[in-house]
Amino acid sequence: MKEYLSNSEKETREIAKDVAKNLKVGDVVLLYGDLGAGKTAFVKGVAEYFDYEKESVVSPTFTLVNTYKTQKMDIYHFDLYRIESPDELYNIGIEEYLYGSGICFVEWPERAENLMPEWAQKIEITKIDDSKRKIIWRQL
Ligand SMILES: Nc1ncnc2c1ncn2[C@@H]1O[C@H](COP(=O)(O)OP(=O)(O)OP(=O)(O)O)[C@@H](O)[C@H]1O
Ligand SMILES: [Mg+2]
Repeated sequence: MKEYLSNSEKETREIAKDVAKNLKVGDVVLLYGDLGAGKTAFVKGVAEYFDYEKESVVSPTFTLVNTYKTQKMDIYHFDLYRIESPDELYNIGIEEYLYGSGICFVEWPERAENLMPEWAQKIEITKIDDSKRKIIWRQL
């Protein structure tokens, strides 16, 4: 377990890079936090770490998943906020992503909690005020 305090979106991206440098192909990271907590900002930081344009990282709200192809590995970015049934995840072949050749980040994993591997890592982002966030990283 590691705990961070972020004072800005940029600091959240830097924290994400600290996490990213420990990740390897096959890892799954569940991102918890309210609307506007900074989950997408966190994924932007990961993308930056792998030299991917952070501007191209946008919430995959309508597509469920975006793939960012980097030199090192694929980043699969899920946002489950709008799913209505776990079937939607089976239909896109969630297993291929979770057990695929990249790292997975999942916003709103609580929408399909029992499809998430129990060995997944967790990032919990709590809003303290407009610009401050507490970020907890939990690994097994
Ligand atoms: N310390 C901080 N870390 C991250 N974002 C911050 C911080 N301070 C302010 N912000 C702002 O909060 C917002 C975070 O938005 P972001 O899209 O990352 O949230 P989210 O958790 O993905 O929300 P959603 O559940 O709607 O997808 C941005 O507008 C960002 O600029
Ligand atoms: Mg988001």
